[in-house]
Amino acid sequence: MNILGVETSCDEAGLALIDANGKVIAEKLASHAELCEQHGGVLPEVVAREHMRILPSLYQAFLKENALSHKDIHAVAVTSGPGLVSSLLVGCGFARGLSRSLGCPLYGINHLQAHVLVARMAQPVEYPFLALLVSGGHTALYKVEAPDVLHTLGQTYDDAVGEAFDKVARLLGIPYPGGARLEKLALQGKNFINFPKPLLNRDSLDFSFSGLKASVARYVEKITTLDDQTKADIAYSFQESVAAVVVAKITLALDRDHQLRRVVLTGGVAANTRLREAIQGALPQEVSFFCPPVRLCTDNGVMIAWAAHELRRSATIQKGYDVIARPNMPL
Ligand code: KG4
Ligand code: ZN
Repeated sequence: MNILGVETSCDEAGLALIDANGKVIAEKLASHAELCEQHGGVLPEVVAREHMRILPSLYQAFLKENALSHKDIHAVAVTSGPGLVSSLLVGCGFARGLSRSLGCPLYGINHLQAHVLVARMAQPVEYPFLALLVSGGHTALYKVEAPDVLHTLGQTYDDAVGEAFDKVARLLGIPYPGGARLEKLALQGKNFINFPKPLLNRDSLDFSFSGLKASVARYVEKITTLDDQTKADIAYSFQESVAAVVVAKITLALDRDHQLRRVVLTGGVAANTRLREAIQGALPQEVSFFCPPVRLCTDNGVMIAWAAHELRRSATIQKGYDVIARPNMPL
């Protein structure tokens, strides 16, 4: 059974078709990042209109470029939440129309669950595992016991890691979304600035990044010249603070639960090489580390199709008329 995945929860429109074995047949992604850059961030209505404008032609191009026809699609899976309501509505409407016209099943997928499960696509990560999801909208630690059994161990009180990266990048004059460009800039950093490492020594698996971001903002305000080297030093030091915090929380989660001997890092910020290396380097020898390939860390259609592939037989999956946009959808 080939499943078409449709992702539109934020500023990316992703389509992907996977086969009955979970292998990718085709994938296509359109990013509205440039449009967001002009507006200094994600404006929900602007992004939703853009999804609306491009989805039909994106879908046609997806079929044509991969020599696919409607007959190759046997089920449609779509992100139904969490995310921007206007963007979710466009994707859900498109997926519903398509599934009805093809007469095939429609599945609603939780975006966060899809970020976590896609780690199992490249390598068969066995359950249970610890997952750290770090994206633009979410930061959370989960104990994952099965595709449909995820326990939240901790989450951010305020900013998500990706949001903090984007906001610090903006302070340094880097346009939205700044995460990847901030990582590049950090490579030139030489002088370490001791920014706070929020909740580092707290016996809790929760996170908080708004204080760190505010501390960077105060530092930037105070200095007289924000030259290129200073910008790089700030980027480097900020990234080191984030790395120290996530390493500490993963270490604490592993100490608390000896069942957890596998760690997954996923979500857009998992594309960050320094973060990957810091986590991998800190894990005890008997703990294995997994991270999806970079193209599957940031939002994409493959992860939605893959999650449907894993969850299709679960009683928890949303089907047919249950598939509606849920901006605050819990896990
Ligand atoms: O998962 P994602 O594509 O969208 C959400 O579900 O939020 O994550 C996007 C976030 C953005 O904040 C972006 O700046 C960040 O991931 N990001 C990075 C890197 N690549 C993307 N942050 C740090 N380093 C990177 N290399
Ligand atoms: Zn995401």
